[in-house]
Amino acid sequence: MPRPAPLRGIRPTASVEALLATPPATRGFSEEIRAGLMRAGQKELPSKYFYDEVGSALFEVICALPEYGLTRADERILRRHAVDIVSRLPSPSIVAELGSGSGRKTRWILEALSRRHPVTYHPIEISASALARCEKEMSAIAAVSVVGFERPYLDGLLAAAARRQEAECLLVLFLGSTIGNFDRSAGDEFLCQVRGMLRPGDALLLGADLVKPVPTMIAAYDDPLGVTAAFNLNLLARINRELDAQFDLALFQHVARYNEEHQRIEMHLRSRVAQVVPVGAWRDAVAFRPGETIWTENSHKYTPREIVALGERAGFRCDAQWLDQEWPFAQSLLVAG
Ligand code: AVJ
Repeated sequence: MPRPAPLRGIRPTASVEALLATPPATRGFSEEIRAGLMRAGQKELPSKYFYDEVGSALFEVICALPEYGLTRADERILRRHAVDIVSRLPSPSIVAELGSGSGRKTRWILEALSRRHPVTYHPIEISASALARCEKEMSAIAAVSVVGFERPYLDGLLAAAARRQEAECLLVLFLGSTIGNFDRSAGDEFLCQVRGMLRPGDALLLGADLVKPVPTMIAAYDDPLGVTAAFNLNLLARINRELDAQFDLALFQHVARYNEEHQRIEMHLRSRVAQVVPVGAWRDAVAFRPGETIWTENSHKYTPREIVALGERAGFRCDAQWLDQEWPFAQSLLVAG
């Protein structure tokens, strides 16, 4: 990512200056993976590491699966209601997106906004390849200029917020139910931090997958083609590639289960046998008991009212909510109070 152009008009705070000068935080991979696999109790890996080149491509395939209705529902709402959504924002508004992925759904919002005035769009993405694709696609929309940030969400949002002009309202997009990867308390804290970077009147458009019948939710995370299994197992393949480890993928099984108490899908990788897996980068090895699992992801499910309450606890007022009927999913426009 090129260093953003000097800010005109606004004096950046020292912390923003320092932030923009530091390289994106990618060096933690080995340390975080090690901490998660060497834990005494339940082994755990951060789900953000699914999205390398292969993982991002597999996620695109997941979004096309008939069993995974989530992304299509998200996009349907944006397509149908983009004009209504942007009509609720002050003019002029700029857009920052947390975890833009391919940016396909965002198109509808940018096109609707750009019919009112020229738009600046800041995709914020830790995957360099996804960011590059998104920047290229979105730059093709007339009257949209794209300035991406290859950074963690909050770092990127701080940088985007620091670049805006005094009169501009900031619309933050957090789509696709990525909020669901956070524990409920971490989700609260995250939204509070987002709110802390916004001014009153700024908005957050939050996409969240809703609770639905358990077999429907399970099928979305355990598809018969095995794409989600491959997506999950790719985390071990990535560790083999990047940390010189020797995971035998055939000795691990993809597991998706619904946790009723926490209303979330949990994905695990279960060791089929007792085994010891060498990891070259650490000159060390990870031991597994037969049936022991690595917990790789949580995908929390919500009710529409829960999203309103979540927003309120973080200092937002819910201006409007749109639901998809075909695949229960909510888009909520939360305005900073
Ligand atoms: C991109 C985090 C929303 O949790 O549904 C898809 C990722 N994991 N299939 C989700 C995912 C398994 C997805 N999010």
